[in-house]
Amino acid sequence: MQVRFLPSFPPIFFGLGAVGKIGEALATTNITKPLIITDRGLVECGVLNHLTQSISSNIDLSIFDDIPENPTISGVENSLKVYRENGCNGIIALGGGSVLDSGKALRVITNQDSPLHLCLKDPSKITADVAPYITIPSTAGTGAEITWGGGIHPDVDTPAFGLRSPYLKPDIAICDPELTRTLPPKLTAATGMDAITHCVEGYLSNNSNPISEAVALDGIKRVINYIGRAFRDGKDMEARENMSMAAIQGGIAIEMGLGPIHALSMAFSDAPLHHGTLVTVSMPAIMRFYNGLKGEKLDQVATAMGLPKGGNSGNRIAKKIEELNLEMELPSTVRQMGYKKNDLGRMIEDASSSHFNSPAPKKPTKEEYKIIIEEVLG
Ligand SMILES: [Fe+2]
Repeated sequence: MQVRFLPSFPPIFFGLGAVGKIGEALATTNITKPLIITDRGLVECGVLNHLTQSISSNIDLSIFDDIPENPTISGVENSLKVYRENGCNGIIALGGGSVLDSGKALRVITNQDSPLHLCLKDPSKITADVAPYITIPSTAGTGAEITWGGGIHPDVDTPAFGLRSPYLKPDIAICDPELTRTLPPKLTAATGMDAITHCVEGYLSNNSNPISEAVALDGIKRVINYIGRAFRDGKDMEARENMSMAAIQGGIAIEMGLGPIHALSMAFSDAPLHHGTLVTVSMPAIMRFYNGLKGEKLDQVATAMGLPKGGNSGNRIAKKIEELNLEMELPSTVRQMGYKKNDLGRMIEDASSSHFNSPAPKKPTKEEYKIIIEEVLG
């Protein structure tokens, strides 16, 4: 029997009011001088305040609030300056996927002399000598609060470098759905749909395991049942709580592997497009491509989505995703997202060569990717 690696995840304080556990999290991780990294939007809507009010005044706190919308090397390097100037000894990342991924990169370089771009090119530079790291998501979808991977763009218009190492696994996650209360409907929709793509691609991957499979199917159900409610009424905390849980479940699913939906996001990564929107726009074409997949897993995804039994599950899953996207006013093509480039050959190459394809149950050929990209592009 083949020996498999079953991943582990950080401990999580989960639920309304979980942010009040920050003192315990700091004590557990031995952080006495934390740097909070976040973005301007979270300062303006009071989410940062919500966190800092929960931190004892005895703690010597520093703040860097200029992480960009998509994670970049310069954003991480600027936060490193503040970390070093203030003699910090640990990181709290408060934000969406960009902030949480930036924190993973920051923890790698705090104790190194090498610049970040060299660490990104040489994964052996990522060692156990990383800064303590607490994640606090302000969105529900990326799963970055618990995963060991992430992406950092050399600059906003350049494809991201992947970061992946067990040493990047956050030490503790604090997942308080209250922090997602002010997340605008469109972002609620787009980040939430990212979670369902993680659950579906992870569940279908060739690297799946029974523990994470069960989690992924439950995550699919949760997104289907609650995303519409969270979109329509951000103050519906039952829906928010379920979406926060689905995001974590998506993070667990990611560790089984992703697939062509995420490979397609590489085809358009030369423009600063929102990741969640991109993957939900790409999902229907891949689900139709999966029609006839060997085994029962595609049918099980359809069942988890509450769809009736029958042939061609891929078509029914695709239709359901399209309906959800439409209901939540998300675009239906990449062109509608404002993507202007036309180099189809390069897009096919980037999607086809993506490492996300390797655990896929069926990898599109270049010819198939051409057809899929033309459809997704619109
Ligand atoms: Fe994703």
